[in-house]
Amino acid sequence: MHAIVVDPSADPKSPEALVWREVPDPDPGADEVVITVAAAGVNRADLMQRQGHYPPPPGASEIIGLECSGVIAAVGDEVTGWSVGDACVALMAGGGYAEQVAVPAGQMIRPPEGVDLVAAAGLVEVAATVISNLDEVGLGRGDTFLVHGGAGGIGSFAIGWAKQLGATVITTAGSDEKLAHCRSLGADHVLSYRDDWAAAVDDLGGVDVILDPIGAKYLATHVRLLARGGRLVVIGMQGGRRGELDLAALLSRNASVHATGLRGRPVEEKTAICRRLAADVWPLFTDGTLPMTPYETVPLPEAARAHALLESGDVLGKLVLTAPESTSQLTETPPERACNTRR
Ligand SMILES: NC(=O)c1ccc[n+]([C@@H]2O[C@H](COP(=O)([O-])OP(=O)(O)OC[C@H]3O[C@@H](n4cnc5c(N)ncnc54)[C@H](OP(=O)(O)O)[C@@H]3O)[C@@H](O)[C@H]2O)c1
Repeated sequence: MHAIVVDPSADPKSPEALVWREVPDPDPGADEVVITVAAAGVNRADLMQRQGHYPPPPGASEIIGLECSGVIAAVGDEVTGWSVGDACVALMAGGGYAEQVAVPAGQMIRPPEGVDLVAAAGLVEVAATVISNLDEVGLGRGDTFLVHGGAGGIGSFAIGWAKQLGATVITTAGSDEKLAHCRSLGADHVLSYRDDWAAAVDDLGGVDVILDPIGAKYLATHVRLLARGGRLVVIGMQGGRRGELDLAALLSRNASVHATGLRGRPVEEKTAICRRLAADVWPLFTDGTLPMTPYETVPLPEAARAHALLESGDVLGKLVLTAPESTSQLTETPPERACNTRR
């Protein structure tokens, strides 16, 4: 098969290090299925992996790619409930930027009904991350919720999900176009992170839950903004990994700081998260209650271009890589879910 690999002779700091090469076919275990990939979501973690800063967990594929959609090509001996030819989406620790990938059966679910495979490829990683974290800290009705980067993949989904839970949503973005997009997704308060967003959040009375992709740069501010019993959940380190934590500020608020990573979680935990998505989230995409996370597509062999785009910040929602052969046969994008396709 073909896959995107990091050319060992190239500088991995450049997206051009990503090349479309022939590689060995995946070797599935008895509890795995092989998926013929229709589309694969691009995640910020993929940029770090390309640069050598985020190696796959032990046993995972060396190929980049944390999520995909496609059709089952082979089923392991111990797998039940799946057959060759079934459409699916998968949450993986690696392997998505390829024509085929082997995935533990528990980490696969059917795409939301009525959502085509290209759109579905960009849903599972953001939904799994947001839901698992907000479940853990119990975001609920009446809470005030802050998520940064409301026009990004995580942020776009988080706005819709938090509104669904009955929270008041505050979000930030870096341009007028992106702020307008956050408003269209239902955010109650949209703030430019280029202005004094913290003062504006203070004026709104602080926050109960923060979903934070920035990390160190905002740590002290976030703790200060937490209401009594507030929960800060750090999921990304775009603003650095080491910061100073004011324990007195935390203690006086009875507040807590959480930090989680989805990729390294054991199969059983990912299986439980996938079940929750299938039962409680996918139906809300199907009936239109949850806004679809917007996405743009780039052909899989041109993954270098997708990485350059994500690094430029010029993306609204998700980027999805479409596999060369499979997409025309496996997908059909309904007009209401149309997206910009980068050529
Ligand atoms: N822990 C986990 O399990 C897990 C799982 C998935 C993702 N993540 C992390 O979550 C983060 C977001 O992922 P993603 O897929 O949503 O990436 P993305 O689509 O690239 O979005 C990144 C967002 O960060 C925003 N941003 C950049 N600088 C900012 C600043 N100074 N203040 C506030 N916002 C800022 C951007 O806003 P503009 O576009 O408006 O400039 C953009 O919306 C990444 O760090 C990723 O690694 C973690």
